[in-house]
Amino acid sequence: MATFVYSTDAPASVRTDVLVLPVYEGPEAGPGVKDVKGADLLALYAEAKLKGKRGEPLLVPNTGGLGVAAKSVLLVGVGKRRDVTTDSLRRALGRVAPQLAKRRTVATTFPQVVGRSPEDAVQATVEGLLLGSYRFDRYKSGKNEDHPEKPALRTVTVLGSPRWTGRTVVRGLEESITRGDIVSDAVAWARDMVNTPAGDLTPEVLAGHAAAMAKEVGLESKVWTEAELERGKFGGILGVGQGSANPPRMIELKYRGGSSRQAPIALTGKGITFDSGGLSIKDASQMEWMKSDMAGAASVLAAMKAIARLKPNVNVIAAIPSSENMPSGSAIRPGDVLRHRGGKTSEVVNTDAEGRLVLADALAYLAERKPRVIIDTATLTGACMVALGRDIYGVFGNDRGLIRDILAAGEAVGEPGWELPLYRDYRRLIRSNVADVRNAGKDRWGGAITAALFLAEFVGDTPWAHLDVAGPAFPEKAGDYWPNGATGVPARTLVQYVLTQGTRPARRSG
Ligand code: BES
Ligand code: MN
Ligand code: ZN
Repeated sequence: MATFVYSTDAPASVRTDVLVLPVYEGPEAGPGVKDVKGADLLALYAEAKLKGKRGEPLLVPNTGGLGVAAKSVLLVGVGKRRDVTTDSLRRALGRVAPQLAKRRTVATTFPQVVGRSPEDAVQATVEGLLLGSYRFDRYKSGKNEDHPEKPALRTVTVLGSPRWTGRTVVRGLEESITRGDIVSDAVAWARDMVNTPAGDLTPEVLAGHAAAMAKEVGLESKVWTEAELERGKFGGILGVGQGSANPPRMIELKYRGGSSRQAPIALTGKGITFDSGGLSIKDASQMEWMKSDMAGAASVLAAMKAIARLKPNVNVIAAIPSSENMPSGSAIRPGDVLRHRGGKTSEVVNTDAEGRLVLADALAYLAERKPRVIIDTATLTGACMVALGRDIYGVFGNDRGLIRDILAAGEAVGEPGWELPLYRDYRRLIRSNVADVRNAGKDRWGGAITAALFLAEFVGDTPWAHLDVAGPAFPEKAGDYWPNGATGVPARTLVQYVLTQGTRPARRSG
């Protein structure tokens, strides 16, 4: 893992394998490009028919004539100058991060592309490089040509503007580096769990990872076994898990950063380690990526890991339900009725609407703890993906302020959400003749809304927000700073939300 150091040295004087300099669309020189006196870099960039669009790279080897101490200069487009945000810088660096990971030393002026909030820019620089060079190669034997080279990157020099000096400013920017490091490490961990095949990541294994993490970073943890879930009357988690050879678990975590009197922020995430659909079985093409159905759980675990290391002065609790949804002789059947934690019942008309069944128990359990808010996240519905696509998660809730704060947190870190309506009249679509509620409507229309309305049954009057991340958690193709597979969304949104809730002025992490 690379070490990041902050410096205000002149770019031309930094001894490094690669000096990474931004180019605005035009092309127009970004910070540091004009410091390279030995060649007209911008002319070379334009000659290569490059315009400075986000991520467009040109590597210029330094055979001695560039007048810089670096062995090479990598010019990278960052888009139109007036449109540049911390997110475009994270994305532009994410694009070139895989090639930079092969070098030993890198220096960059990239944080200087955004005029305001150097702290956010420095954090985004770290995140772009770390998240962009993430790969999942645990299952590659190394004996075939698909096997990527081992990362070599040791040191990254983050070059701030000469105006970003003074003890407190520098200390702030060094904290930004640490924050970027901690957040990226947590996101990579979430991605690893989501990318791991379901055969190797059962509820028990997931809970084991959570407990080990809790021990490492100093969180209180408790893993509820099947017998304990029975005693606690968690009928949804047990019902969904009863068809599987791998028994369910619930992971409980506590972070204490505030006073003991202060009500905690409560988090939960859907932890279905594999979603076959159960007896309402999915077809092969829809089942292919269902190892990712615990992405909500992974992002909450990652957020808790980062929170424990960043130490905001708030209290946070998490209760994460995990089951494997399989068809078998012992599986729940369509028409079965489950009794959830707290006593409410649900009629299971479709065993593939399982996420809401496990979340119901966790939400009811968390509501009992009288938290100030509850936030859940889940790869809950295909309908949400139809509505918002692969980039955007849906946000539902019963509290305007909380919804606003979640949307702002997502915006700040480049994980966009969009509000969808918790339209109460659609409650009629999940009315049951035999139980308190049914787990799916009669048709698929408004499917993300009816799923959210089902969850709303279990939170009482606790302010609550629900993030349906079925689209962005596992987009099935590579993006600017993630390879094909898991993204870790919405872990960074959750961390950002929690940091901004601290009474200490928490810094933005975007
Ligand atoms: N895990 C799926 C939702 C999903 C689909 C996530 C595709 C990511 C990609 C969820 O458990 C599910 O099967 N939902 C059903 C609900 C329906 C049966 C009411 C759906 O969306 O079709
Ligand atoms: Mn399902
Ligand atoms: Zn599912």
